[in-house]
Amino acid sequence: MHITVIGTGYVGLVVGACLAETGHDVACVDVDAAKIADLQRDVLPIYEPGLEELVRRNRAHGRLAFTTDLPAALTDAEVVFIGVGTPPGSDGSADLSHVLAVAEEIGRHLRRELVIVIKSTVPVGTAARVAEVVAEHARFPFHLCSNPEFLKEGAAVEDFLRPDRVVLGVESDYARSVMAELYAPFVRTGKPILFMDIASAELTKYAANAVLATRITLMNELANLCERVGANVDHVRRGVGSDGRIGPAFLFPGPGYGGSCFPKDVKALVRTGLAVGAPLRVLAAVDEANERQQRVLFEKVRAALAAADVPLEGATVAVWGLAFKPQTDDLRESPALALGDALLAAGARVVAHDPVAMSAAKRRYADRELGDRLRFAPTSYDAAEGADVLVVATDWNEYRHPNLARIRAALARPIVVDGRNLWDPAKLAALGFAYYSIGRVTARAPELAIALPRPVAAADAPPTVPSVAV
Ligand code: UDX
Repeated sequence: MHITVIGTGYVGLVVGACLAETGHDVACVDVDAAKIADLQRDVLPIYEPGLEELVRRNRAHGRLAFTTDLPAALTDAEVVFIGVGTPPGSDGSADLSHVLAVAEEIGRHLRRELVIVIKSTVPVGTAARVAEVVAEHARFPFHLCSNPEFLKEGAAVEDFLRPDRVVLGVESDYARSVMAELYAPFVRTGKPILFMDIASAELTKYAANAVLATRITLMNELANLCERVGANVDHVRRGVGSDGRIGPAFLFPGPGYGGSCFPKDVKALVRTGLAVGAPLRVLAAVDEANERQQRVLFEKVRAALAAADVPLEGATVAVWGLAFKPQTDDLRESPALALGDALLAAGARVVAHDPVAMSAAKRRYADRELGDRLRFAPTSYDAAEGADVLVVATDWNEYRHPNLARIRAALARPIVVDGRNLWDPAKLAALGFAYYSIGRVTARAPELAIALPRPVAAADAPPTVPSVAV
């Protein structure tokens, strides 16, 4: 089939490369000429395991091409995917201007009957608006399909090639049969293609992200509770996750969820609920709780330093991990940046390390006059050298089994705040570290009294004083 993919971000690139891999003729289009020029030399705008190889191979075989010329790319297209961004507007709702602009272009330039597939994450009802816009200009029949993407950054190619399920919202037999043919190679393992109406497909994406974000947030709040009552969230997590109805995945507490999807989609779904008179109260609370959780690393650093009588202003903080999660260089809504910004605002010095996201972080901070208050270290051990405290912000595999004695020797003070619970509290305490993690209070690493901003209703909780003894 001739396929056109509009938008060469995460979604568009992965879709284009993976469909080319199954033998289709794919043209990927973007308005960003510099990005297209790079892609024409196999230079990718993002880091995503396996994607560069896929792009290179399929381009070399002539099945994958990159262009800024949308009309030309539409000439033979039988299926066109819309994979452009839907950034959050100032009120949290999804900004659909890119999607609707692309819809108009498709309407103007389509030259044969085709299926228009909406891959971007769009609020319920967007496909209907896209259909109206296309119909205003189109001279050929077209069929809409809502095909939300569930790919996880860092595993995007794998997720596309071997999905848990494919969701297809279609309202014509034509669209149904074209899409079933397109996805057949990816569901040979017996995973389902779920056909449904378009509105349900649009909502399924948000609903899945809402459930996952809620799980994580509930565990984060339970972890905070563990710290107060002297429980260990690792045990609680295992106990809960062993229930077959619940399952073990996505129960890991941490410094708050980040990334390009969860924060944005949770806010957008809350907006949708309000707009149609079906408020999503639980989800609104999830959003608020996550914003508080994103301050947890900063508050722990502050309390840990206070407990050691070290002023935060002027202290040097080593930060391991900048990306919002491992296997990506994506910094969007990363808890590490929330930490870095708060530390710098409080007058601390930051020395950061990340296996792949340091260039992106350098760009993000390029216009700030920080001098040597923000440095990037070539290795994680270099970052720790002379620091007053080490914070683990991202769960990169390479941080899981470091040489702890070497870290101990490198740090000016043996204080560690582990935001991802990568290390064993007893082992760290035995090595002489003051070790703080998330939801795990042990005799040797007692609770740090941290002051997360609270909602008004809970503000009457009595203030607590840092009480750390290691
Ligand atoms: C997510 C969805 O998983 C994916 O289906 C959707 O298409 C896009 O949004 P992604 O943003 O790439 O994917 O990341 P994901 O791996 O889901 O992690 C999201 C956030 O949750 C990260 O900040 C991660 O650190 C956090 N997380 C995840 C936890 O804090 N605990 C967990 O147990 C799992």
